[in-house]
Amino acid sequence: MVDDPEVQAWLETLPDAKQQPNLVFAAARWHGLAAPAPYEALRSVLLGDDGAVRGTILTRATQTNEAGRLATLTPVFALAAAGRPVALLEVGASAGLCLYPDRWRYRWHTAEGVRAAGPPDGVGPVLECAVTGPVPLPEELPTVVWRGGIDLNPLDVTAEDDRRWLLTLVWPEHDDRREQLARAIDVARSDPPDVRRGDLFELLPARLEEARAAVGSDGVVVVFHSAVVAYLEEADRARFDRTMRGAGRGRPLPLGEQRGPPRPPHRDGDRPGAAGRAVRARARRSLRRAHPRARPVPHLVVTPTTGP
Ligand SMILES: C[S@@+](CC[C@H](N)C(=O)[O-])C[C@H]1O[C@@H](n2cnc3c(N)ncnc32)[C@H](O)[C@@H]1O
Repeated sequence: MVDDPEVQAWLETLPDAKQQPNLVFAAARWHGLAAPAPYEALRSVLLGDDGAVRGTILTRATQTNEAGRLATLTPVFALAAAGRPVALLEVGASAGLCLYPDRWRYRWHTAEGVRAAGPPDGVGPVLECAVTGPVPLPEELPTVVWRGGIDLNPLDVTAEDDRRWLLTLVWPEHDDRREQLARAIDVARSDPPDVRRGDLFELLPARLEEARAAVGSDGVVVVFHSAVVAYLEEADRARFDRTMRGAGRGRPLPLGEQRGPPRPPHRDGDRPGAAGRAVRARARRSLRRAHPRARPVPHLVVTPTTGP
C-alpha cells in the first residue's frame, strides 16, 4: 500500500484517526475480501468501493478484545485480592471478554514445569502461557463477586453482528486466536457483562462506587485496563494516572494495567519486541512484560522489571 499512490489517495480521504490498517483491512474483509489474498484483491475492493467499505470504516472501530491477556492479568488480580472477594472493573472493556478471569483454566509453562490454576482439566476453556522469571503465579483464582466495564462503544456479546465484527478484527492468519475468541464469547454469553457506554473519565467515579458497594468492606475493588491507554492523548494518560491515584481515597487502589506501544498504535505497527507492560500501581513497579496481543502463542512473559 505504501507504494501505491492510488490506494494512498483513497486512504487519505478518510479521517486521520480512521487510517488504521487493522480497521481498513477488517472493513474490506467484512465486505467480502478473502484473506489471505493477493494484494490486488484488496486494492480492487478499496478502489471499487461504492461507499460500503468506507461506511464500515467510519462507523466501526478497532476494538479487538483479547481474552488471552487474562493469562498475564490474572496473577495481578490474585495478588491484589490476597484471598479477598474481588469487584473487577475494566475501563475500555470492548465486549467485556476480559472480565471473566475466574472462568478459565490457566496453564503457565515455567522453567520448573507447568503450574495450573482454575477449574479441573477438561472443565472450561484453557489459556496457555509461557513464563520466564519469578512471576508470582496464583494457586487459587480470585473470587469475582462483581464485574463491570466502561467503554466508549461497548460491543454486545449476545449480538451476532458484534460477534462477527470481533472475529473479523482478528488477523486472518491467527486461527488460534479466533478459536480462543469464540470460546471467550461463549463464556461471556453465559453471563453477559455489564459494560456501560461512556468515557472512562466520566463514568469511573460512579462505577467505582457501584463496585465498592457490591464487594463490601471485606472485599477489594480492582480496576484494570489493557490496550486502552495507548488510545489516549499524552495529557489524558497523565490525567488517567492522577484519576486512579485519587480514586484510592488515600489508600492504594489495585490497578492491573497493560500498556501498549506509544500512540498512535497503528503507526508503530506490530513491532517485534514492542511489549505491553503489566503494572501494579500500588507498588508502582512493572511485574512483567507481555506481548501486547498475546502473541506468539503461548503467551510470552519475561523477567519482571522495575519501572515507573
Ligand atoms: C483495543 S480495545 C481493548 C479491549 C480490552 N481491554 C482488551 O484488552 O481486550 C480498546 C477499547 O478501549 C475503548 N476506549 C478507548 N478510549 C476510551 C475512553 N476514553 N473511554 C472508554 N473506553 C475507551 C475502545 O472503545 C475499545 O473498545
